[in-house]
Order: sequence, then C-alpha cells, then structure tokens
Amino acid sequence: MRQKLLVYVVAGTLLWSLVYLLVFVNRPNGSVRRTEETLNSLTEQLADLQNTLSQQNAENRRLLDALNKIADNRVAAAAPAGLVAPAAGGGATVAAPVIAVLVFACNRVTVSRHLDQVLRYRPDPARFPVIVSQDCGDRPTAEVIAGYGSAVKHIQQPDQSDIVLPAKEKKFKGYFKIARHYRWALSQAFDTFNHSTVLILEDDLDIAPDIFDYFTSTYPLLRDDPTLWCVSAWNDNGKLSRINASAAELLYRSDFFPGLGWMITDKLWHELRDKWPKSYWDDWMREPAQRLDRACIRPEVSRTRTFGKKGVSNGLFFEKHLKFIHLNDRPVPFTKMDMRYLLRENYDPWFVDHVYSCQEVTYTELKARQIGHKDCVRIQYVTKDGFKRTAKMLGLMDDLKSGVPRTGYRGVVSFMYEDRRVYLAPRPDWTKYDLTWS
Ligand code: UD1
Ligand code: MN
Repeated sequence: MRQKLLVYVVAGTLLWSLVYLLVFVNRPNGSVRRTEETLNSLTEQLADLQNTLSQQNAENRRLLDALNKIADNRVAAAAPAGLVAPAAGGGATVAAPVIAVLVFACNRVTVSRHLDQVLRYRPDPARFPVIVSQDCGDRPTAEVIAGYGSAVKHIQQPDQSDIVLPAKEKKFKGYFKIARHYRWALSQAFDTFNHSTVLILEDDLDIAPDIFDYFTSTYPLLRDDPTLWCVSAWNDNGKLSRINASAAELLYRSDFFPGLGWMITDKLWHELRDKWPKSYWDDWMREPAQRLDRACIRPEVSRTRTFGKKGVSNGLFFEKHLKFIHLNDRPVPFTKMDMRYLLRENYDPWFVDHVYSCQEVTYTELKARQIGHKDCVRIQYVTKDGFKRTAKMLGLMDDLKSGVPRTGYRGVVSFMYEDRRVYLAPRPDWTKYDLTWS
C-alpha cells in the first residue's frame, strides 16, 4: 500500500516536472503570457505569409494567362504564315501581268479621293493602266476626272436615256443604271481596249497601299485555277472586332462573291456579257447559274473600304455596318510569297481538316469564356434560322444569297472573337448549299 502510494507520488512528481519543463523551459521569456503573444504573432506572420503567397499565385496566374494569350496569338498569326511559304530563293515567280484598273464614277466629285490613292499606290503605270468610266454626265465630276490629264483614260457612258420602270420598282432605278453602266464599261475594257484582266473599282472606295501587290500575286491563281472566278479586296465581316488585324497576310477562298474591288479575266467576261442583267448585277453574279460553284479569293483584312455614305443604297447600311470595315494598314509583300496554298486542290483538304479539328462549342460557352486555351473553336449551325441567330449575336452579316452566307466557304464563316479564331460552320457532312436559304 505504502509502496503504491510512493509510486503515485513519484509518478506525480515526474509528470509535474515534465509539464513544467514543457511549458516553461526553452521559452526565452519564461512566461505563459509572453508565450501566448509569441504564438499569436507567429500565427499572424503565418497568415501574412499565406496571404502574400496567394497574392503571388494570383499574379502568376495572370502572367501565365497573358503569356498564353501571346502564344495563342502567335499560333494564330503563324497559321497562315505556315501556309504562305516564301517562294524558293526569296524571289517571286509572279509573271508581271497587265491589270487594267476600271474605276466607276457618276456624279461624286470625291472621285478624286479614290483616284489619288490609285495613282499613289500603283507600282507601275504600264502594268496598271487606269480607265475612269463615267456615267450620269455630271459636269463637275467630269472636270475633276479631266484634271488627271493623261494619267487616266476618261470615258463616258453614252446612253443617258431614262429607264422606264413599273411604279413599285422606280425607287430602284439607280440599280438599273449601275447595271447598264457596268455592261458598257466592262465591254469597253475587255472588248474595245482588249484587256485580258481587269480590276474593278468604284469612286467611293479607299484602297490599302498593298492592294496592287495583292492583285498581282493572286493573278496566277485566277488564271490557273478554274474553280476560281474572281479575286476580291473585300471582307464582308471585316470590322476590327471580328478580324485578326495583324494577320494581314491571311487570305481565304470564298463562295460568296464580295465585289467592292474585284478582279476578273476576259474569259469570265465572255461568259457573262451576253446575259448581263438589267439590274442588281452583284446579286445576279451570286446566283448559281453564274457562279457555277466557283469561288473568289478574299482577304482577312479588307484592302478596300467605302466612304460613299450617300449613294444608290441607303445610308443606314453605311452607318450600321459599312463604315466599320477596317482598311488594312500593314502592307504585306504578297508578290514574294507562294500563294499556291489557295489553289483548290491544296486548300480544300487543309481547310476542311482544320475547321473540323477545332473543338465544337456553343455560343453561350464562347460568350462566357468557358473554353480553355484553344487556338480555334467551331460553332455548328444546322438550320437557316440557327445560322442567322448566331451570326446576329456575333455581330456578323446574317444574310445569305442563293444559300451562301457572306464570306462563306463550304458554308464556313471565319472570324475572330476576342483572341480566338471561330468558325461558324455547318455539320461535318456538309455537301452543298441549300438554295432556299436567303
Ligand atoms: C451597291 C454596291 C456596289 C454595286 C451596286 C450595284 C456596296 C457598298 N456597293 O452600290 O458595289 O455596284 O450596289 O448593285 O455594296 N453609279 C453609276 N451610275 C449611277 C449611279 C451610280 O455608274 O446612276 C456608280 C457609282 O459611281 C459607283 C457605283 O455605281 O461607282 C455604285 O454606286 P453607289 O452610289 O456607290 O451605290 P452603292 O449603294 O454603294
Ligand atoms: Mn458605293
């Protein structure tokens, strides 16, 4: 019993000493209060450290995001460059063709704004003879054109007779006059002056400094690829927010005839001249009977922009859309580049493969940025209304002509959304346009 008590006393003493040692020994300041203070301050420091670390983490994430964005942009910009291989030896293989420049004018004295740019940017007068064809017989405009002397050939559409139309079509008389003028002037350029290639411009267009290089370098494509029927300088969805302005070298094939600075050869003119329409010549070109499944080349960044606020069509379209088209300001040495990637046999397999390898997303996911770091994504449309709805929400042209959406190639509309390339595309098993879509 005593022994037991002794054991308890010794054990108790030992325990107390241990507690004493644990609590008070090795503490520099020897008091519980101070120890608590130290512990508190350590906890605070730890919290501070945690805070700093998480702030640094957030900063790192931001940096990483920024870096990824730059990398994405580089990939986006590099994609076309990878296709646009510089010609071997650095030299261009483009035979210098003569491309007649046919400018349409009527009654706007501001034709000088356009002509000044044409004369300033054309690299060689012999290769780009300028014809200004004037309709409307407007004296002040005629004087402005005459002011260019022998720098341009000034011709005047002789038939100024009135065009008689049924009452409900009267307000479209302008389109009838334009079509009449086009037929006459194109015939002058091809049939009378015997040019084999003509670049068609209008008096209210600003042009980009590299426009002549663009048409020179794409000329061999037009000549050699029977599935091409024109080269155009215009991107119908070319506003700044929907293009990659730094991918100025990027070109496409398009099933939609864009007009607004376009080049054709005499071969096409011979095909069209006898059936040239009385009005709406551009929509007529877009009909299957004329297009015959052929495509045009068009740029990512427009080489033309219209400043013709007052014209035959209403000014509202200009205010709401046309004035936002971005004119390229980064000249591209197209003539030193190999353009053969745009030939159908090279382009189509690559294009289809590329578009349909991009991850499919919904408009909502794109808008909410619920996609990881993807260079490209694809939004699928199945119906006409589906196409129109999505196009409208994305700020794209939503109209179709003979089933073809503006800028579309094989139904695919290419554009930028924030830093990402997006393809608004039909199903992968697409084979042809539905002519009833309009
Ligand atoms: C729109 C097109 C234009 C096309 C025309 C015909 C746009 C931005 N423009 O004309 O490319 O050619 O529809 O469908 O989409 N002109 C004449 N005679 C006239 C009136 C005009 O020759 O009686 C000339 C103008 O000088 C100009 C061209 O036709 O070069 C187009 O006329 P404009 O007034 O600019 O009409 P838009 O609405 O731009
Ligand atoms: Mn115009």
